[in-house]
Amino acid sequence: MAEILVLYYSRYGNTAAMARQICHGIEAVAGCTARLRTVPPVSAVSEATASDIPDAGPPYASHDDLKACDGLAMGSPARFGNMAAALKYFLDSTGDLWLSGAMIGKPAAVFTSSGSLHGGQETTLQSMMLPLLHHGMLMLGLPYSETALFTTATGGTPYGASHVAGADNDNNLSQAEKELCFALGKRLAGVASKLTGI
Ligand SMILES: Cc1cc2nc3c(=O)[nH]c(=O)nc-3n(C[C@H](O)[C@H](O)[C@H](O)COP(=O)(O)O)c2cc1C
Repeated sequence: MAEILVLYYSRYGNTAAMARQICHGIEAVAGCTARLRTVPPVSAVSEATASDIPDAGPPYASHDDLKACDGLAMGSPARFGNMAAALKYFLDSTGDLWLSGAMIGKPAAVFTSSGSLHGGQETTLQSMMLPLLHHGMLMLGLPYSETALFTTATGGTPYGASHVAGADNDNNLSQAEKELCFALGKRLAGVASKLTGI
């Protein structure tokens, strides 16, 4: 099996909903399986205060998850047009993987949820691409053969999947957003499967 790591941070559940939809797309590809992982919030005090095991949802990601995966989908809510500190904090701990070249040549894709329609989805997606490119990963976007890119009235970009959560963080994924999350997962799994020869 080609295993795709779906790694995300979500405060209110919107990015988490996208991650689950991406998993459906990954698992639609024969021989591909999704491993869902999140990261803990960054503590206001610098000592570790959170448990190693989250109260709910998928387990926290480890470096072994990154080493073991054949591809990576990574998502974060928009934070001032950037990825959330919790995800950046986790990525900043991966210097050993960068040094060993563990992620070189693996395909990757990114996804985000934002409060507003023009609130910086593309810059948030790009902010997540930068460390993955430093890791030597192969970035994938969404091609315009995905017709939902033309019809969406909310999220969805060629740089990755996106969702507009709304001011109260309570918008459900639209049909187009769901289709584009699914397509991104499927595309990533298809490429990982070809690269690994599975
Ligand atoms: C500190 C902070 C900064 C934010 N910055 C942005 C932003 O730049 N653009 C935007 O549209 N939404 C912004 N938001 C709204 C979040 O993106 C929104 O709550 C998120 O998409 C919900 O996703 P989640 O349910 O996965 O946490 C911000 C929220 C917080 C708390």
